[in-house]
Amino acid sequence: MLSFMSLLILLCCELNSGQFENDSQSEPLCPDSHDLQKEYDAMKKKMEALEKMLKDSQTRLINNENTRTELKNEASMQVIFSAAAGGGSSIGPFDTDTTLIYETVITNIGSAYNKTTGVFTAPVAGVYYFSIFYHAGGEHEGKLLLYKNTQLVAMAFDQRSDSDTADNGGNAVFLQLQRGDQVYVHMAPNSHVWRNYKHTTFSGFLVTQM
Ligand SMILES: *[C@@H]1O[C@H](CO)[C@@H](O)[C@H](O)[C@H]1NC(C)=O
Ligand SMILES: *[C@@H]1O[C@H](CO)[C@@H](O)[C@H](O)[C@H]1NC(C)=O
Repeated sequence: MLSFMSLLILLCCELNSGQFENDSQSEPLCPDSHDLQKEYDAMKKKMEALEKMLKDSQTRLINNENTRTELKNEASMQVIFSAAAGGGSSIGPFDTDTTLIYETVITNIGSAYNKTTGVFTAPVAGVYYFSIFYHAGGEHEGKLLLYKNTQLVAMAFDQRSDSDTADNGGNAVFLQLQRGDQVYVHMAPNSHVWRNYKHTTFSGFLVTQM
């Protein structure tokens, strides 16, 4: 840019000193080179300011784009799981409250359910839906307790009975969870359930983020 301007000034003054030299009537074709330099400096400053503005708005655009992508990712987050108590025999009865581990994962989109611990951990704040179903024989109680952290929120229950040998129970609930809240199922003391991959399941999904 600078060299181009210098060339222009040089050229202009060359011409002036040449064939138009004695044309005293006309305006001087070559303005004072000092003025040109000043004009050029002002222009340069403006250009630099413009360049900075452009860069700033580019940066802002990229930031906006990133924020939008993040929001989109969060909005399209999917959390869906189903797991069954598998293994063949019955589970329980136990003397104390015991976490029921549904070790056979059927679906686990978002990996929020841990089949080792039997615990679902909310990856984002929102409203979730959970359901539990079980099958058991009548020789013991069938009693499952659905917990949100330490709070009991729902249960499924059937009494011990010699005449009614096949018990089925279930429950479902919408829960508003914060990120990191845990949901799991306990077997009450002295209760049992069947685990044959199909009868006793724990499911949940994210309904909406909040
Ligand atoms: C200079 O001006 C005179 C008078 O106007 C003219 O006759 C002459 O041709 C000019 N010289 C040049 C180099 O243009
Ligand atoms: C499940 O929990 C166990 C025990 O806390 C842990 O070692 C494991 O990494 C967890 N699995 C996943 C997939 O988070």
